[in-house]
Amino acid sequence: MSVMEVQRMQSDIWIRCLRVLILLGSSHLQSSYADRILPADSRRLAGAGNLTTCLATAKARTAFPGDPEYERTRTYVFNHRYQYAPAAFVFPTTVAQVQNAVFCAVKLRIGIAPRGGGHSFEDYSLGGRDGAIVVDMTAFTDISYNKAAGTVTVGSGFRLAPLKLALWNVGKVTVPCGTCPTIGVGGHALGGGWGFKSRKFGILSDNIVEAQMVTANASVVTANAIENADLLWALKGAGANSFGIVTQFTFTVHDVSAPITHFSYDFPQSRQAETLKAFQIWGQGAVAEVTASLYLDPSGGNSLSGDYLGPSTDLNAVLKTFMDKAPASSKQTIMETDFITNVLIESGFSQDANPSVLNLQNYTYPTVTFKAKSILLHAPGLCDDGIKTFISTLQAGSSTIGYVLVDLFGGSASVINQIPPEDCAWVHRNTLFNIQMFTSWQNNNISQAHKDITSINKLWRAVRAYTSGSEAYQNYIDRDMPLSAYYGSNLERLITEKKKWDSQNVFHFPQSIPVR
Ligand SMILES: Cc1cc2nc3c(=O)[nH]c(=O)nc-3n(C[C@H](O)[C@H](O)[C@H](O)COP(=O)(O)OP(=O)(O)OC[C@H]3O[C@@H](n4cnc5c(N)ncnc54)[C@H](O)[C@@H]3O)c2cc1C
Ligand SMILES: *[C@@H]1O[C@H](CO)[C@@H](O)[C@H](O)[C@H]1NC(C)=O
Ligand SMILES: *[C@@H]1O[C@H](CO)[C@@H](O)[C@H](O)[C@H]1NC(C)=O
Ligand SMILES: *[C@@H]1O[C@H](CO)[C@@H](O)[C@H](O)[C@H]1NC(C)=O
Ligand SMILES: *[C@@H]1O[C@H](CO)[C@@H](O)[C@H](O)[C@H]1NC(C)=O
Repeated sequence: MSVMEVQRMQSDIWIRCLRVLILLGSSHLQSSYADRILPADSRRLAGAGNLTTCLATAKARTAFPGDPEYERTRTYVFNHRYQYAPAAFVFPTTVAQVQNAVFCAVKLRIGIAPRGGGHSFEDYSLGGRDGAIVVDMTAFTDISYNKAAGTVTVGSGFRLAPLKLALWNVGKVTVPCGTCPTIGVGGHALGGGWGFKSRKFGILSDNIVEAQMVTANASVVTANAIENADLLWALKGAGANSFGIVTQFTFTVHDVSAPITHFSYDFPQSRQAETLKAFQIWGQGAVAEVTASLYLDPSGGNSLSGDYLGPSTDLNAVLKTFMDKAPASSKQTIMETDFITNVLIESGFSQDANPSVLNLQNYTYPTVTFKAKSILLHAPGLCDDGIKTFISTLQAGSSTIGYVLVDLFGGSASVINQIPPEDCAWVHRNTLFNIQMFTSWQNNNISQAHKDITSINKLWRAVRAYTSGSEAYQNYIDRDMPLSAYYGSNLERLITEKKKWDSQNVFHFPQSIPVR
């Protein structure tokens, strides 16, 4: 493969990070943060004073309005659309410091929001409003692998690429999650977490076996199948800043010591409808070892990319139903590699890069302002009329819509749909596709934003008219959606759990689980 081809393929994959991220040079691999998480010591939580003195009690690093660090870290979110102004940032390195931040928020009646990787589509890691205390979890990157149990316990501040690298290094294992390397495990795991290994290993939420959380009264609880099982139920899909601040997760891990095949096929511009139709038919019967996503854009671009957990020699058979029905591919890239090289490729790096480049724990994003919407589609997908309307509305939005990703969640072999909807908060167990629609504009130009959002809403309504359900994906959070779209038949129980764990609504943002 030529350098040009590699670069092109990498830019395709970076669509998952919105095409805009510039890669860092190599940085050094972080050593273990062992012993950073200290046991709770609530006796130190004395009188609150004012916010400055209260936060200072626990000796965590802080940043207040006016501090250069405050202005810098405020932009440390993926979507720069809102630019909220928090009351303060806290950078805890211990659980006790998280507890103190919660204590101060309650005592002084100030809102609080944990920030994981800052990838919330609506900037909810800054609270979704001005004036919150933002608890930045970046330093929480402890890791401890329990080989016998097949689990790993990790700090909730990890970003996905550093986490994947650490898991590979401890035992050639992984957890299923998204490809964008800078997403935080915190928000990702608490609202789903889908990636190119998910039809075999599940979404990340489904792999949580235990969580440690700081509650509204600033104590620390453990939630697992035996202890506080109701809380674990709620955290698996509805855990983002509604019940408390998760400091640590224990996940089931999966062996990835065997080679993996990454694939990407481009199709002729005018054939989007055929490609989509072939994808729908194939997806319903695809083996669990394959997960894929179809990219479509208003200029007619369309390509299928994904992973197969097996050798490249199987690929023709694995994709046969799709290839039989799709137009002939105009270009293809097939790469069989070990797992960590697969991660490098999907993170936009060269396959020859030193894996330590994946340590993007402190990565700062370039500016992007965007709006995204999602629709969860049930089998068998869109009818012919629906496909036609979808593609024509997409193409009509040529100057205003960025792209659409149709992610394969379901099909009869997918493990995602083998879990009953009432088993945990993540309810969407009848999904074939998750359709994400995305638009972005430059310089926070309000008039361009208005045009783009009008266009994306039009596309969303056009497709929605052909879908049977009314579900959307909570990790593609969208201010315009009601909570019923995210939690469906589990919403009532979530409200009950909210009353139990946070009756004073200490943890809230515009789309958190309400107390009523
Ligand atoms: C470029 C891009 C690509 C993406 N690709 C995918 C993808 O392939 N698959 C997929 O499933 N999703 C994807 N997402 C969506 C992503 O999963 C969500 O945005 C997720 O919520 C991000 O988590 P975060 O920690 O980075 O975000 P944050 O903005 O830090 O957090 C999101 C929410 O979770 C809360 N939260 C964070 N940490 C904690 C904690 N420790 N305890 C309690 N609450 C917490 C925050 O307060 C906030 O409300 C993508 C998003 C972006 C921007
Ligand atoms: C907070 O309290 C301290 C100590 O009493 C005081 O020095 C400081 O000026 C106060 N800060 C604000 C913003 O009120
Ligand atoms: C990230 O930043 C923190 C705080 O500035 C620092 O302590 C840490 O070493 C950095 N980590 C990496 C991997 O650079
Ligand atoms: C903002 O967007 C409008 C509409 O697309 C465009 O005409 C205008 O030139 C843009 N302004 C700036 C400053 O980019
Ligand atoms: C704090 O909240 C937890 C969970 O709701 C509860 O079990 C515990 O008793 C509370 N502790 C105090 C001191 O109120």
